[in-house]
Amino acid sequence: MKISGQTTHDAEEDVRNQNIKIYVNGEIVPREEAKVSVYDSGFMLGDGMWEGMRLYNGKWAFFDEHMDRLFDSCKAISLNIGLDRDGILDALTKTAAANGMTHDVHCRLMITRGVKSKPFQHPNLSKSGPTVVIIMEHSKPAKHLQATGISLATVPQVRGLPMSQDAKYNSHSKLNCVIACLQAEQAGADEGLMLDPHGFVNTTNACNFFIVRKGEVWTSTGDYCMNGVTRQKVIDLCRVNDIPVFEKNYSLVEAYGADEAFLTGTFGAQTPVSLIDGKRIGSHDGIGPITARLQTLYGELVAQNTRS
Ligand SMILES: Cc1ncc(COP(=O)(O)O)c(C=O)c1O
Repeated sequence: MKISGQTTHDAEEDVRNQNIKIYVNGEIVPREEAKVSVYDSGFMLGDGMWEGMRLYNGKWAFFDEHMDRLFDSCKAISLNIGLDRDGILDALTKTAAANGMTHDVHCRLMITRGVKSKPFQHPNLSKSGPTVVIIMEHSKPAKHLQATGISLATVPQVRGLPMSQDAKYNSHSKLNCVIACLQAEQAGADEGLMLDPHGFVNTTNACNFFIVRKGEVWTSTGDYCMNGVTRQKVIDLCRVNDIPVFEKNYSLVEAYGADEAFLTGTFGAQTPVSLIDGKRIGSHDGIGPITARLQTLYGELVAQNTRS
């Protein structure tokens, strides 16, 4: 059942991605020429924020929601993006045009505090203004993930309290998540299932996490995880479509006993989970019925949101 070494970000191979053009501070250059300084705050300290977004039909899905999150986090860390929302949209539009991309595209928009004058931590040493990079790739999530599902291992690394490094920051520094991912891989799983500081099931290292029990959809309270755009859309879709949905504390016992489990994220939308700590989830092969229904509803919502 398990394909070893798979991740939730597996995409169909697309050779066109070898020759993409990348936006670096207003210039759009071939992939091999896209470079930032070794003094960049993002490289040195992980001092920056990013967003992953998807382009369909020439429109960025849920652009406003992604910008709300980006601008909130940049404000919280006093990072002046140097562009307003229209400026970001313009940079995205130019990069897409330079690449001839309109559909099934994933982008990583990255903004760091910029180039430092010395290799030390103080934010005031970043004097250049922000570094803005946009990487866009042709991207369709790999189909095999829908059939096999992802395997998770519960990991010792937890999601911390918001007064340490708030999980709501989509920061360049993802070390907490990277450590969780390594722990999962070393336990033979694809992705790490992370608990909150009280031991309740919270999230995975790269996606938000949901279970389905007796027709109800459960996810964590949201207190310790990324405020995922896809997570919120799934919750909203449940509410609009009379699928009972609860943001609540629950434990591993309830996760192991779930009828279905799935992950959410901009890249993969809804990815089924087949195993948690070696225990098979549900009795179906492949994707479960409620996950499949939510996938369809989410697909319709994206189509509606990106209609021209
Ligand atoms: C740790 C983590 N959880 C969840 C998500 C999913 O968020 P979204 O649905 O906004 O893509 C991300 C994506 O950036 C993430 O980094």
